[in-house]
Amino acid sequence: MPEARSGTATVAPVLTRPPAEQHDGTREVLPPELGERQIVFDLSDVEVRYHGVTAVQNVDLRIAAREITAFIGPSGCGKTTVLRTLNRMHDITPGAEVRGRITYHGEDLYGPRVDVAEVRRRIGMVFQKPNPFPKSIHDNVAYGPRINGHKRGDIGDRVEHALQRAALWDEVKDKLRQSALGLSGGQQQRLCIARALAVEPDVVLMDEPCSALDPIATARIEDLMQELKSDYTLVIVTHNMQQAARASDRTAFFTAEVDDAGRRVGHLVEFDATEHLFTQPSDPRTEGYITGRFG
Ligand SMILES: Nc1ncnc2c1ncn2[C@@H]1O[C@H](COP(=O)(O)OP(=O)(O)OP(=O)(O)O)[C@@H](O)[C@H]1O
Ligand SMILES: [Mg+2]
Repeated sequence: MPEARSGTATVAPVLTRPPAEQHDGTREVLPPELGERQIVFDLSDVEVRYHGVTAVQNVDLRIAAREITAFIGPSGCGKTTVLRTLNRMHDITPGAEVRGRITYHGEDLYGPRVDVAEVRRRIGMVFQKPNPFPKSIHDNVAYGPRINGHKRGDIGDRVEHALQRAALWDEVKDKLRQSALGLSGGQQQRLCIARALAVEPDVVLMDEPCSALDPIATARIEDLMQELKSDYTLVIVTHNMQQAARASDRTAFFTAEVDDAGRRVGHLVEFDATEHLFTQPSDPRTEGYITGRFG
């Protein structure tokens, strides 16, 4: 398998032993606009059910390396559900079942020999509400490296580096032993990003990371995303269309429609370069949503 650089980590082989059959044909089947980029996730015909009921289906999506991909769409259309397929969070969601195929750097993410702990290390997640542990600032960031068996001396460097990358170091360097719960909401969210970065992931998934923050804290997180995308692949869910338009490179618009049985089922309507999707949407449902006519 060719070595692929991403962030500070060298990503090869990834989740299991290198697969015998490699996706070297990937590039040929990519749409031209993604052809020059490495594909991190490739979703084909993905469907997620909860307790046997389909929540979202027919999702075909390719997520490129070192870009920001945004998921937008009305409440209940399946944005969070699809995001959580990308690091196998549904393994721990009662009643959830993921169908279809998702590859990560060409490997089947749901393959039988995949190490799920390694999936979660490589593909980190930041949630809507900042959720620092009730521990010190230092211990929040050191948590992952400690679990991964890093030595004490090494951990201090990792904590500093992750806090630097999350643009929080200058604000906390003199109070690393204080409780993380004493930080502001925006600082707590950057701490959660630092915690995710401390284990040297390849991808960071963010589910509405700014929705609990004020505009200034939101702007800081958006700036941070722009800095991080040179080294990481970011996938964000946002309700804020201005944020998607400002911050992302590619946007996926989902919606939910009522099926024959009268159930609301989410699906992907349109996926395109953000600028294109917001200026020349090809589907009238996308246009209706982004112009605020419905959703
Ligand atoms: N754990 C769960 N168990 C059962 N049903 C769920 C679960 N999580 C989500 N659903 C259902 O799946 C559908 C999609 O939900 P999801 O949370 O992915 O939507 P969303 O687009 O993220 O919405 P929002 O913008 O409100 O966060 C909804 O009908 C929701 O009720
Ligand atoms: Mg959601």
